[in-house]
Amino acid sequence: MNYPDAHDESSNLRADQDSDFTRQVAQALSRRQFLLRTGVAGLGAFFMTTPLTRAVRAQTAAATMPPAAKTAAGVSTLLGFRAVPASRADAVVVPEGYQAEVLISWGDPIFTDAPAFDPAGRTPASAQERQMGDNNDGMTLFMIDDTRGVLAVNNEYINPELMFAHQGSDMSAEDVKTAQAAHGVSIFEIIKNGKGWQVNRSGQANRRITANTPMTITGPAAGHALMQTAGDKTGTRVLGTFNNCANGHTPWGTYLTCEENFNNYFGTQDTAFQPTALMDRYGITPEEARYQWHRFDERFDIARHPQETNRFGWVVEIDPFDPQSTPKKHTALGRIKHENAELVVADNGQVVVYMGDDERGEHLYKFVSKGKYSTSNKESNRELLSEGTLYVARFDAADGELKGTGEWLELTHGRNGLTAENGFADQGEVLIKTRLAATRVGATTMDRPEWVAIHPDHKSVYCTLTNNKNRGKKDNQPVGGPNPRAGNPYGQIVRWQPTDGDHTASTFDWDLFVLAGNPTVHKDGLMAGSDNINAGNLFNSPDGIGFDRDGRLWIQSDGNYSNEKDFAGMGNNQMLCADPQTGEIRRFLTGPVACEVTGITFTPDYRTLFVGIQHPGEDLLPSHFPAGGDSKPRSSILVITRTDGGVIGT
Ligand code: FEO
Ligand code: CA
Ligand code: CA
Repeated sequence: MNYPDAHDESSNLRADQDSDFTRQVAQALSRRQFLLRTGVAGLGAFFMTTPLTRAVRAQTAAATMPPAAKTAAGVSTLLGFRAVPASRADAVVVPEGYQAEVLISWGDPIFTDAPAFDPAGRTPASAQERQMGDNNDGMTLFMIDDTRGVLAVNNEYINPELMFAHQGSDMSAEDVKTAQAAHGVSIFEIIKNGKGWQVNRSGQANRRITANTPMTITGPAAGHALMQTAGDKTGTRVLGTFNNCANGHTPWGTYLTCEENFNNYFGTQDTAFQPTALMDRYGITPEEARYQWHRFDERFDIARHPQETNRFGWVVEIDPFDPQSTPKKHTALGRIKHENAELVVADNGQVVVYMGDDERGEHLYKFVSKGKYSTSNKESNRELLSEGTLYVARFDAADGELKGTGEWLELTHGRNGLTAENGFADQGEVLIKTRLAATRVGATTMDRPEWVAIHPDHKSVYCTLTNNKNRGKKDNQPVGGPNPRAGNPYGQIVRWQPTDGDHTASTFDWDLFVLAGNPTVHKDGLMAGSDNINAGNLFNSPDGIGFDRDGRLWIQSDGNYSNEKDFAGMGNNQMLCADPQTGEIRRFLTGPVACEVTGITFTPDYRTLFVGIQHPGEDLLPSHFPAGGDSKPRSSILVITRTDGGVIGT
């Protein structure tokens, strides 16, 4: 989730929550099927809808976005399943021939000695520390052998209205400890037996990482004066990670977890406190009200410990197989509101990590390691993310073009105006102030960069730009290039090809893979969306993305689920699947009421797909997913397979 935005959206939802919406939800619920179910047959007709001719097509390379009819006429496609319709049901729906089961939900034990989930809202921290964290987000499956693996899962945030009996209105010190224990990362073994994939509570790797787990800090900002606090005068050690949104993994077998909206956990009751310009740029304000950690845990009080804020907003590397290992925060990768960290080994062996900064008008980044990946010296790979060069993207385009070129601008002290006179005393300060440095060098302000995914051919890179109501309304966020739509309510996916296929290159070519929209509501080309959007695959706010081995692009949404006005016909949040060659997009899964679909990982044979359902029933909207009845809604991980055991998506 993007907390400010999700909050905006849910506030809007409440404001717009006319009796119509309430009635529709009630109707959906009265028809609700509590168990997960497969989609009904005959929905392929949705996909056959004739595409509308829209102005946007003329602006887009025909080869990259052929009309859907071309696909219908027999051009081969990677997509072998029947699309499911939009849904408002409080259930997960997958295509005919598929099944979805729940692997684990928030509060389930991940150790043999852990208590069962208590829905009463009085879970002590000592229990939550031994249970699955809340709001599962990005995740990676690391295999041990054919029937055993270790699943590392981010636990992004909590919903106080669901976690506590008082719904957040009467927080105590113990409640804050429970909340801190529900954040971070859950790591647990899974085993495949006759009943499918199950959690192994006795797994050797099982571990909870929370907002209080000791970590070390690496890279140019480690030990920096701006990183030193009363609790850590060395500036090299920090307690915990939180708001872990999306993720990544390395070829040397480690997990990357990314700190996103860390600002929401800091505040102060000191009414005289004035945030610094740096705090301001990262959204750190005295008024934090949702989590209230600063009232009970002093290090989150920005008046007393202002530099604690600098120790968050990083990418953290974790060895998922060693529960005794100390996670590392890698400052060389920059301090932003990180979405995911998509890693590729360039042809010359340098490691490249692409990263989005999810806020309206923020930027897209690339890290290039100094050292090279070694297949023989595995230990040396563990240093690769500690030293390298960070870049930020500038996109160039002719007026009205939805494609163009781009350049990676170096964020190195002493270059591009990143000097002491301009407020950057050294490389550590450049990285702690990554956003300010990016502005200084002239980076393009984007429509909220979310996940980045690299095609398995390693030639092209895709990034979701989820939405941006400020586009065209703030001076620093003009309409144009990869952000072509004022007030952008729907989002788009930009993709780029590094020059000569070299991920270390400083230049690239880009175009838009899809501009989400609503052709059933809008005639205007930009608001209707690109030609690969039709009445059968409507969605908004693409967020999580990932490729499978064959090059199918899986797209998860975190958007407006009102199903009204601009969003009519889109239903609940969902997961779709795209063929990058043909441009075709089909809806694969619909989620329950008020959820976001986020987090994706496969088994190596691509016959099992793990997908996350986050915050069903947020803001007390009526969901009882996954258990049904009158149960409390709980974020959960799904295991999706085909009834015939085939490869997912084919
Ligand atoms: Fe946690 Fe940008 O989503
Ligand atoms: Ca996200
Ligand atoms: Ca999002």
